[in-house]
Amino acid sequence: MSKIKRHLVTSALPYANGPIHIGHLAGVYIPSDIYTRYLRLRGKDVLSICGSDEHGVPITLKARQEGVSPQDIVDKFHELNKASFEKLGISFDIYSRTSSAVHHEMASDFFRTLYDKGKFIEKSSDQYFDEEAGQFLADRYITGTCPHCGNPSAYGDQCENCGTSLSPNELIKPKSTISGSKPVLKKTRHWYLPLDKYEPFLKKWILEEHQDWKTNVYGQCKSWLDSGLQPRAVSRDLNWGVPVPVDGAGGKVLYVWFDAPIGYISATKELTPDWEKYWKSKDTSMVHFIGKDNIVFHCIIFPSMLKAEGSYILPENVPANEFLNLEGHKISTSRNWAVWLHEYLEEFEGMEDVLRYVLCANAPETKDNDFTWKDFQNRNNNELVAILGNFVNRAIVLTNKYFKGVVPPASNLQNYDREVLEEITHIRTQVEKSIERFRFREALKETMNLARLGNKYLADTEPWNQDRNSEERIKTILNISLQISVNLSILIEPFLPFTSVKLASFLNYENPGWEKIGSAGLLPGGHKIGKAKHLFQKIDNEKVEKQIARLLKTRQDNEKVSIKQAAETISYEDFMKMDIRTATILEAEKLAKTKKLIKLTVDTGLDKRTIVSGIAGYFNAKDIIGKQVLVLINLATRKLRGIESQGMILMAEDIDGKLVFVSPEEKTENGAGVK
Ligand code: 2FM
Ligand code: ZN
Repeated sequence: MSKIKRHLVTSALPYANGPIHIGHLAGVYIPSDIYTRYLRLRGKDVLSICGSDEHGVPITLKARQEGVSPQDIVDKFHELNKASFEKLGISFDIYSRTSSAVHHEMASDFFRTLYDKGKFIEKSSDQYFDEEAGQFLADRYITGTCPHCGNPSAYGDQCENCGTSLSPNELIKPKSTISGSKPVLKKTRHWYLPLDKYEPFLKKWILEEHQDWKTNVYGQCKSWLDSGLQPRAVSRDLNWGVPVPVDGAGGKVLYVWFDAPIGYISATKELTPDWEKYWKSKDTSMVHFIGKDNIVFHCIIFPSMLKAEGSYILPENVPANEFLNLEGHKISTSRNWAVWLHEYLEEFEGMEDVLRYVLCANAPETKDNDFTWKDFQNRNNNELVAILGNFVNRAIVLTNKYFKGVVPPASNLQNYDREVLEEITHIRTQVEKSIERFRFREALKETMNLARLGNKYLADTEPWNQDRNSEERIKTILNISLQISVNLSILIEPFLPFTSVKLASFLNYENPGWEKIGSAGLLPGGHKIGKAKHLFQKIDNEKVEKQIARLLKTRQDNEKVSIKQAAETISYEDFMKMDIRTATILEAEKLAKTKKLIKLTVDTGLDKRTIVSGIAGYFNAKDIIGKQVLVLINLATRKLRGIESQGMILMAEDIDGKLVFVSPEEKTENGAGVK
C-alpha cells in the first residue's frame, strides 16, 4: 500500500425497488464497511461511496403494477435503505441516488464525451414492441419457447432450463410479460460500445496484470474474454432514466448499467469538490465491492467505459462475493424468502453487531453459503457471549472488585505474560494481512482469537485464586487482561463498531486508532475504568423459533402458489407411448462455455447413448457417475450445442427450480421398463 495516497471504496448501488436483505449485506455491504473502517482506523484518506440505483426497467414495472410513479417507488426505498444502512453502522461517506441532478448531468456528460470522441457505433435493429403497453420490451420481459430444449418459459435473454444465452428473436411464440400480448418487431436505433475493441486492453489488464484477483472473479472474467466480447447497447427505448443527450434521441435513455456505475463518480462529486483527486490520480486505490452477478459490469464494461473516456483510473481490485442462501434455499425477493434488514433492526434492536458478526463469520467469500437462524443463535451465544463478552466482563469485574476499578501496575513479567502480550501484535499483523487480501472471515476469526487467548490466560493464571497468587501477581494478571481488552476494543471496530464503542466506554477510554494496537501499557496503570455491563445478551430458543416459524409459513404459502395445476388428461395409450427405462450414468462431462449443460453417457441396457442434460447448476459431473436414473429413451433426438441428445433424464424440480434425480429405490438391472 506504500505508493497509495488515498482510497476510494465503492459498494454496488442497490436497486431502489425493494428493501435490503442479508444476502446484500453478506455479499457487499458488510465487507465494504469492514474494509473502509479498517482504513479509516489506520488514518488513511478513504471515501466510501454508495447510493440507490434508481433506473432500469424493473422499477418502471413495479410502479406500473402498483399504480404509482417510478419516482414514488424509488423515493420510498431510497429512504428506507439509507436509514437501514445507517442503523446497521454501515458508514458510507455518502449514500446518494442516481435520480439526482448531479448524477443526470454527470452520466449525460460522460455519454456525450464518448459520443463526441466517436467511441460508439450506431445500429438499427428490429426489437420487440408491446403495442398494448405502448413500449419496447427489454429482453427479460419477453418469454417464449426455447429453440434448443423446448422449455416453454424461456426468457428473451436466456433459457433457465438449458442455460443457453438467447436473443428475443430466437424465441418461439414470444409473449410480452407486461400485457401478455404477442409483441411485434419494430425498427429502433441505438448506440453501442464496441467491447470487442477493448478485448486486448482487458486481457492485458486483467488476465496478465491482475492474477491477484479472487479466483471466482478472475475466472468469470477469463471466461467472458475467452468467449469473445460483442458490442453492447448502451441506450434503451424507455421513458425512465437519463435521457440520451443527442439530438433526435427522444424517448431513449441510457442503459441502466451504463449510468449506474457512473453513479459512483457523481456521488463522489456530490460529496467533495476534490472528487477528481480520487477518480483521476494514479495514487488512488479504487476497490469495487459487489456480488458475483455484477462481475461483468465492474470488470469488463465499466472499465471499458473508463478507458474510452480516458481520464479516469481503473479499479485496483473487485473482491466480488458469491451468494448467501437462507435456510438452504435461494434468497428471493418476489417469494419473500429473505431476512429483511429493516425488519431485523426492529425485532433485534440493539443487536446490530450480532448480525454483522454472523454475516461476516459466514460470508460467501469463496462459495455460496447458508444463513440459518440456529447458526445465528449459536454464534451469538457460543462466540459473542461466551468468548468475547465473557472475557471482557471478567477482566473488568475483577479489576473493580480487587482494585476499585483502578488499573493495577504490571511487574515481574513471567514468560507466559510476555508471550501473551507479544501475541497481540502477532494477531494484529494477521488481521491486517487478511483484511488487505479481502479475507474478512479469516480476519474476524483472528480477532476473536485474541478474546479466546484472554479467556485462556485468565483460566490458566486464576487471578481469583488468592492462595496461588500474590497480590503483586494478581495486579500483573489483571493489568495484562485489561491490555488485552483495550486492544480488543480497537481490533473489533471494523467488524463490531457498536461493541467497540461500548467496550471503550466500559474501559473509560477513547479508541486511539489502529497503530496503537500492541503498544506497551496502552491502558496506563492508575487509569480508572468504568463498571462492566454486558456486551452481548443470550438469544433464547423462542426468539429464533419465531423467525423459523415465519419462514416456514412463507414456504408453505409459496408451495401452495407454485405447485402447478395438473396437466390435461391423457389416455392410457398416450402414457404407454413413453418408453422409460432404468439406466446408469457411465460418463459425465460439463460442456465448456455453458452454464448448465452436462454431456452424459448412459447405459440403458439396450445401448450406450449420449444425453445432454441441463443439470450442471445442481450437480458436479464427477459426482453423478455410477448413479442409476430413469431415462425417457424414445424421445425424438435433438441437437444441443452441436451434440445429439438421445433421450431425457427424469428429474423432479422444487419451487426454487432445484433439480433432484428420480431414481429406483433399489439398484436394478439397466433397461428395466418403468410403468
Ligand atoms: O445488481 C444491482 O443491484 C445493481 N443495482 C448494482 C449496480 S452497481 C453500480 F454499478 F452501480
Ligand atoms: Zn432451453
